[in-house]
Amino acid sequence: MNPESGQVSGGPIRLIILGYGIRGRTYAAYAMAHPGDSKVGGIAEPFGEVPDTVGCRTWKGWREALESDVEADAVVIALPDRLHHDSCIKALERGCHVLLEKPIGCTWEECESIREAQKRAQKLVLTGYVLRYAPFYKTLRTIIASGAIGELTSVHHLAAISYGKSAHAYCRGNWSVEAKGTGMLVNKCTHDFDLIEWWTRSRHCKKVSSFGSLFHWKPENRPAGAADRCMNCPAEVKAGCPFDAYKIYYDRTDLRYHFADESDEAILKMIETSPYGRCVYACGNDSVDHQTVLMEYEGGLTIILEMESYSQQRNRITHFYGTRGEVIADERTIRVMPFLGETKIVEPTQSGHHGGGDTMIMAEFARLVQTASPARYSALLDDVMESHKIAFLAEVSRRTGKTMDVPA
Ligand SMILES: NC(=O)c1ccc[n+]([C@@H]2O[C@H](COP(=O)([O-])OP(=O)(O)OC[C@H]3O[C@@H](n4cnc5c(N)ncnc54)[C@H](O)[C@@H]3O)[C@@H](O)[C@H]2O)c1
Repeated sequence: MNPESGQVSGGPIRLIILGYGIRGRTYAAYAMAHPGDSKVGGIAEPFGEVPDTVGCRTWKGWREALESDVEADAVVIALPDRLHHDSCIKALERGCHVLLEKPIGCTWEECESIREAQKRAQKLVLTGYVLRYAPFYKTLRTIIASGAIGELTSVHHLAAISYGKSAHAYCRGNWSVEAKGTGMLVNKCTHDFDLIEWWTRSRHCKKVSSFGSLFHWKPENRPAGAADRCMNCPAEVKAGCPFDAYKIYYDRTDLRYHFADESDEAILKMIETSPYGRCVYACGNDSVDHQTVLMEYEGGLTIILEMESYSQQRNRITHFYGTRGEVIADERTIRVMPFLGETKIVEPTQSGHHGGGDTMIMAEFARLVQTASPARYSALLDDVMESHKIAFLAEVSRRTGKTMDVPA
């Protein structure tokens, strides 16, 4: 027994999962494959089916699940961003530890409110920054921290979303309208802000400014003759459109994991009936499709973060400049180029989604629930607050055109 958390060591942690979309399914699949460290006691999901093979209680809404008498040590929050705050507070008040998908909340005030609730409850709130747990990013951080390229002077970080993924999430999907969630920068790039904070660690970001807009997926760019849904679009217009839903979801298969049923038949039906079959120029979206963030850190370190929808590849490319060399990392290879000495290529082993981070965060969550202390719980949440602060201030800068001071 961990005397501080009250968790029985060695036994699986009992979970309630809120939301059985992509992330909820990922975490449930982990628990089913690792019965020694976690067990799903119930899932809340209003729309999708939870297969009988999961073998647990089900509810239609997250409140019902948390108000039920199902015993649970922890709650996994895999709900849309706008439901993170209320569900996290309720889970903590129920006495549960929480694995909370990112971002923590939709506003800085929501993030602070969750931090206060965490401190009151003295439970763990681990946020879904899965890349921190991926071998690639762990290795990269070790190399930078080792001083192999001296002191960092600047970092250029590109988050290339790819036109297919970006059309899916930020034009047709969950994050297409800023007022309904967090917008693209906070939703997508809190991963990147988190990595940047993790790499720069002890330094404080002093100033942030940002530029960005919705450049292309808007009605004035709609090709003549295009229909509101891809299924009705004339063949000659369709042929010239890379964003055609049939090309993105039917001809290619790499984005099908977003849907519970990935069969050809289900994908065709989805294109005909769901929001993901709409013309990208007629989605009523207002999320940006590209954005740049400039940051100045204590000591003079400068960082550029670039988020781009219109890329072929979906990856992150980071170029670190230091006083003794450079490192270029592209999620496959880390090229370490000291000014004195040989260039070294490092290729960490990776497997699974997010380079293995999805599996490793769940293993770490179960371990922390069983072994960590309340002081560590608080430290873990504090650790990811700063990156959210910078992301929200970057959004203020984009909207106001002002450079923002980042309070310590
Ligand atoms: N860590 C990561 O890398 C990563 C990747 C993708 C998404 N996310 C985050 O995970 C969260 C979920 O994203 P997703 O891609 O799985 O979205 P999703 O739409 O696939 O899943 C969300 C699910 O919540 C369900 N839901 C909605 N209202 C509900 C309610 N009242 N009660 C219970 N369930 C409800 C929806 O029906 C849906 O199935 C988001 O906050 C997102 O930002 C994190």
